[in-house]
Amino acid sequence: MKEKKEKSIEDLPGVGGTTAERLRELGYSDLMAIAVASPAELAEIEGISEGTAVKIITAARKEVDVGGFETGDIVMERRKEVGKVTTGAPVLNELMGGGFETQGITELFGEFGSGKTQLAHQLAVSVQLPKDKGGLEGEAVMIDTENTFRPERIVQMAKALGMDPDEALKKIRVGRAYNSHHQMLLAEKASEVAKEHPVRLLVVDSLTAHFRAEYVGRGALANRQQKINKHMHDLLRFAYLNNAVVVATNQVQANPALMFGDPTKPIGGHIVGHTATFRIYLRKSKGSKRIARLIDSPHLPEGEVVILLCEDGVRDA
Ligand code: GTP
Ligand code: MG
Repeated sequence: MKEKKEKSIEDLPGVGGTTAERLRELGYSDLMAIAVASPAELAEIEGISEGTAVKIITAARKEVDVGGFETGDIVMERRKEVGKVTTGAPVLNELMGGGFETQGITELFGEFGSGKTQLAHQLAVSVQLPKDKGGLEGEAVMIDTENTFRPERIVQMAKALGMDPDEALKKIRVGRAYNSHHQMLLAEKASEVAKEHPVRLLVVDSLTAHFRAEYVGRGALANRQQKINKHMHDLLRFAYLNNAVVVATNQVQANPALMFGDPTKPIGGHIVGHTATFRIYLRKSKGSKRIARLIDSPHLPEGEVVILLCEDGVRDA
């Protein structure tokens, strides 16, 4: 992605000192971040009307050369930069076309204990591996909404891969999100971190728990979906700007009444499903075995594999 370093956001039409300051506070600190923003998003900022937002975004897009049509070969070129991170389980990597992809969001959904958090921990370690071992020599940022990050697990998983556990822990930054608003703020902060460190993985575990708890009742549903939608787009932008893997977890209840229905169509989870690039449905099997099923992928066939949650992390069953 091209970026003309000599221009700053103050050079955009309609962006004075105060507006620039507000934009920066909200994470729109460079032209690229503004170029990929939506007018409605920017218009939420005090002092920016919807009309001004369109002008600002259009100007930013011209500067960084995004937003128009691209020929297929250019898209192909960018696809070539897509990195893949090993899940620890070769069968799951294969299902995902080589591992979890950068430039996209992978949603892990499933009931409690299905392995969403374990897989997230595994990726936070795997992403640090050298490229020939399935990593991206990168660092991780984890937004933890349920206080389920366990450094002890990172130590076990790092040791299993022959890594220095202390080094591994230093390359993982954990933010405890106290509510949905804080969670969204942390997602913006992740972009700041990514400016100083090679963050190639962003985890949001859980993506939906706070939203579900805070926006209850029919009347709150539209508002909740709108907020989740904005959050998802922030995450997607992070994935794109940093060529990073984004993993978001979503707990869904396995409903026995739905035995003949489709448990992979979670109620209220459609916004998440539409924005996610990949969706993996995890369900329990015997003992520590879990079944991972890939759903609605843009370019991979559907399928399911059996994985194992063990002390070393995630492995083939
Ligand atoms: P919720 O967050 O409650 O929705 O569940 P989750 O999908 O995040 O489940 P999680 O990833 O926490 O999976 C929990 C399961 O992982 C346990 O039931 C164990 O099978 C496995 N597990 C967790 N820690 C360990 C460990 O230290 N050793 C081993 N062998 N297995 C573990
Ligand atoms: Mg969990």
